[in-house]
Amino acid sequence: MIVIVLPVVLEAKVKNYSIAVLEGDGIGPEIIREGLKVLKAVEEVSGVTFSTTYYPYGAEHYLATGEVLPDSALRELEQNNAIFFGAAGDPRVPPGILEIELILKIRFLLDQYINLRPIHLFPNVVSPLRNDKGIDFYIIRENTEDFYNGMGHRFDVRNDNSLRQQCALEMKRKRYRAQVSIDSQLDIKEDYAITLGLMTKGGAERVFRYSFDLARRKGKAKVTSVDKANVIPHLYTLWREAFSEVSKEYPDISTEFTFVDAVTMWFVKNPENFGVVVAPNLFGDIISDLGAGISGGLGFAAGANINPGGVSMFEPIHGSAPKYKGLNIANPIATILSGGIMLEELGQERLGRLVREAVTAVLRDNVVRTKDMGGRATTSEMGDAIAAKVYEISRGIE
Ligand code: IPM
Ligand code: MG
Repeated sequence: MIVIVLPVVLEAKVKNYSIAVLEGDGIGPEIIREGLKVLKAVEEVSGVTFSTTYYPYGAEHYLATGEVLPDSALRELEQNNAIFFGAAGDPRVPPGILEIELILKIRFLLDQYINLRPIHLFPNVVSPLRNDKGIDFYIIRENTEDFYNGMGHRFDVRNDNSLRQQCALEMKRKRYRAQVSIDSQLDIKEDYAITLGLMTKGGAERVFRYSFDLARRKGKAKVTSVDKANVIPHLYTLWREAFSEVSKEYPDISTEFTFVDAVTMWFVKNPENFGVVVAPNLFGDIISDLGAGISGGLGFAAGANINPGGVSMFEPIHGSAPKYKGLNIANPIATILSGGIMLEELGQERLGRLVREAVTAVLRDNVVRTKDMGGRATTSEMGDAIAAKVYEISRGIE
């Protein structure tokens, strides 16, 4: 046996990172355990160390205390270098509470304005598409604006004598606070609802800059912008204008505009044509599940909520899958890959690549396959196999 120490180990900067761990609900604890197992392997082959602090927030904590995420906890989370998040959601908690007051609260108040979702088809992972040209692109979803702001109102006017309705709305972000009043009148007496989308030019520009920089960093030749400017002109012509302006700073990267309906068709027909795809918050939410679907399912779909100058949160795209809770059958790869993106964002690009290579190698070997892949391997066996690959690759065993 020849042992070669690869530069990946030698060049890692010696550093300690504090990681806030939120396992959350359902399969959250199981997948996070495997994510941390792989990070432990990374620690052992590099000079980098992680100290973890666990936070209990999620359904159990909410059901026991009525508290979702206190502001004091948010301030504590902000003291860490990164947040590693499993999943939130539980059938005993009405929909919306944990999503809005936990996940979105962290994203918004820590100004994690980039939602990065790599779409990559790994070896021996089956795509439902007949595609032999490979799938390897990035979705960047604007993560703090658009229709994700809670501003809206439901007007129950059937039992109200006045047709004229007024309400005051407010939203708060790290960059600004918005106050909007609605004064509305319908000339029929029927219940109705209004939801407002809001986008700022600066909010869009910073996402485009990140997208073009990512294209350069990852060697992608094109950035595709997604919108629906033909039907929702106010929001999305602002988006387009900002995109065109920022694109001028990157003459080496080509650009295109697509409507969101059309892009869903192109994801299915020609996924190989995409490099970086940038979308407003709501469309980005939708197309990223489609991206996961065409590249083998949510088990492989990693994600990151990034504030390039602040504290970022790394979480798989999938949810808490309550019916699989405690069964040790969920695929931990999405979480493990999210941990890899965390390393990259912390400035440890080589270690991030090591994690991705370890995942690729295990999938290429095609021995350890979880239930979603038609196999019988458990969550922990998949984590063990990937951690073992981290050691193997970094030792360069022949
Ligand atoms: C996602 C999820 C969330 C979103 C929910 C849980 C708030 O669907 O991360 O894609 O809509 O952003
Ligand atoms: Mg989603």
